[in-house]
Amino acid sequence: MMYVKNLFVSRSRFNNCHCEETEAISLFSMRLLRNGRLEKRQMLVLAIDTSCDDTSAAVIREGGGDRKLLSNVVSSQISVHQKYGGVVPELASRKHIESIVPIVTEALGTAKATLSDIDGIAVTQGPGLVGSLLVGLSFAKALSFATGIPFIGVNHIEGHLSAIFLEEEPPRFPYVGLVVSGGHTSLYRMDGFEKYTRLGQTRDDAAGEAFDKVAKFLGLGYPGGPIIDRLSGTGNPKAVRFPRPSLGKNSFDFSFSGLKTAVVNYARLHPAPPEGYPEESLCDIVSSFQEAVVEVLVKKTLQAVHHQKLRRVVLSGGVAANSHLRQRMLEEASQQGVKVYLPSPVFCTDNAAMIGVLGAEYLKKGIRSPYSLNAFSSLPL
Ligand code: KG4
Ligand code: ZN
Repeated sequence: MMYVKNLFVSRSRFNNCHCEETEAISLFSMRLLRNGRLEKRQMLVLAIDTSCDDTSAAVIREGGGDRKLLSNVVSSQISVHQKYGGVVPELASRKHIESIVPIVTEALGTAKATLSDIDGIAVTQGPGLVGSLLVGLSFAKALSFATGIPFIGVNHIEGHLSAIFLEEEPPRFPYVGLVVSGGHTSLYRMDGFEKYTRLGQTRDDAAGEAFDKVAKFLGLGYPGGPIIDRLSGTGNPKAVRFPRPSLGKNSFDFSFSGLKTAVVNYARLHPAPPEGYPEESLCDIVSSFQEAVVEVLVKKTLQAVHHQKLRRVVLSGGVAANSHLRQRMLEEASQQGVKVYLPSPVFCTDNAAMIGVLGAEYLKKGIRSPYSLNAFSSLPL
């Protein structure tokens, strides 16, 4: 028996993301039997994400209606950027260059696979820090060129929205997907892979950005989201009534910069004593801030679900790891008869596994990217 790869039936442009598509059946995921018939087979996809400050590689097995994550290695750069209170792009790309080979090697090793077992490579093309993206993309292109393994560039936000398919019980389409990360806060109607309609997005700061900036202003450290999540556990969420920006009843857009400024103004009006805020007041401030963010996210998302006459909602992105957001979304949705799907926290923050889910979907349809594919800091979805 021999495997049939890379057979292009015809070519056409795919969206405007610089991909090549085979229109008829994908032969990539088929194998040729001795009797001349084609049979579906499983394929292994190596996925890479270097969109921001995590170098990540994963191996995913896909095929015959079965999807299994064989490895997912994430190397965090938090210790590099912590002292600057945020990601320093130049340092991030240098660190990716150092880490990419060991991380990919580890992902293959954990999956007990070698490059000769890999059928396709999926890599984040954007959005993100362009210097960081270029490391992963150039590496994937070089690997593809040297080995002949086809590769596909994918959208990082689409990757986040696909993370839920790493779970045991993924949702059926259609549903409303909320992406809440450090760079994005958007709501989508999801009718299938490649079938997305954006319902709204932030007009200024992303939710994660607001968490990070508030934490930085209060001198709490980086990244702010997990720190505020932890401190809020002992705070009073009703201690300070911060604004809940709604932007009108029928708008599914968000705005978090006014809320962030309200926290800054509150802290200026109630300055910390020389030894710093007592733990209790600090926890009350961040808990009240988190309460306002979560209330807006839950309300708008559920409004969007009802507006679309749907009954399912999926959360994704780093802020979807927030314990209060997860709990409140579950509580309020269940009261309204809406089912909530939450990726495990490790699949909410940046990871290559989610890029592999999406890459496998495209690769099995015969979609590939050309070597001229570029990285883009903003890549609309
Ligand atoms: O998805 P992600 O890892 O990277 C981007 O694509 O941006 O999201 C990172 C963001 C950061 O702003 C971080 O503070 C936030 O997600 N985050 C959290 C939590 N964990 C990560 N925000 C709130 N609560 C958390 N537990
Ligand atoms: Zn992300």
